[in-house]
Amino acid sequence: MSQPPESDAGPTTPDYLVPPEPRRNFVAQLAAVVVGGLTGLVPLAAGLATFLNPLRKSVKDKLAPSGSEEGFYKVAHLDSLSAVPQAFKIIADRKDAWNTFPKDAIGSVYLTKGDDGKILAFNLTCPHAGCAVDWRPAKKAYHCPCHNSSFTADGTRAPDSPSARDLDSLEVKVDTNGAVWVKYQDFKTGEKEKHPA
Ligand code: FES
Repeated sequence: MSQPPESDAGPTTPDYLVPPEPRRNFVAQLAAVVVGGLTGLVPLAAGLATFLNPLRKSVKDKLAPSGSEEGFYKVAHLDSLSAVPQAFKIIADRKDAWNTFPKDAIGSVYLTKGDDGKILAFNLTCPHAGCAVDWRPAKKAYHCPCHNSSFTADGTRAPDSPSARDLDSLEVKVDTNGAVWVKYQDFKTGEKEKHPA
């Protein structure tokens, strides 16, 4: 009696030891999703940390001064003012994200007192693009050296000035001791209307 021919394919793994194919695919896909998700979280967390960093606070926040009264700052004494514009610094405690800078200059203003006693205050920043204007006694006018804007003593812009608006006037009050207080504000430059910066 003849023997059946032996197979030359070698030994085979029993079926019960081979995991079903769909399950292996599922595990591999799940691992890829988890790893991919974790990889994506790293830049997201870094971006979030950067976004929340106190350094990204607005300039307005950085310049939040303390010690002012309803936004007014004591600038000068009434007796020191005249019809000739004088520049004064606004001194206040300045804060940034981490530090306080006591008695620091946060801006500058021009003050005048007319013959009628009326006090005018102007932000020294040019409304055109933010340079500093200076008073030219010979011309009796404010002048900005950056692009040659000019303003009369009452802050009115000269017709040929590139500035789209007059100098930015500021509120003033005088207390019972004769101290002159100015409500200091910065405004957006390059616009026809005054809008707080
Ligand atoms: S910034 Fe003053 S004229 Fe341009």
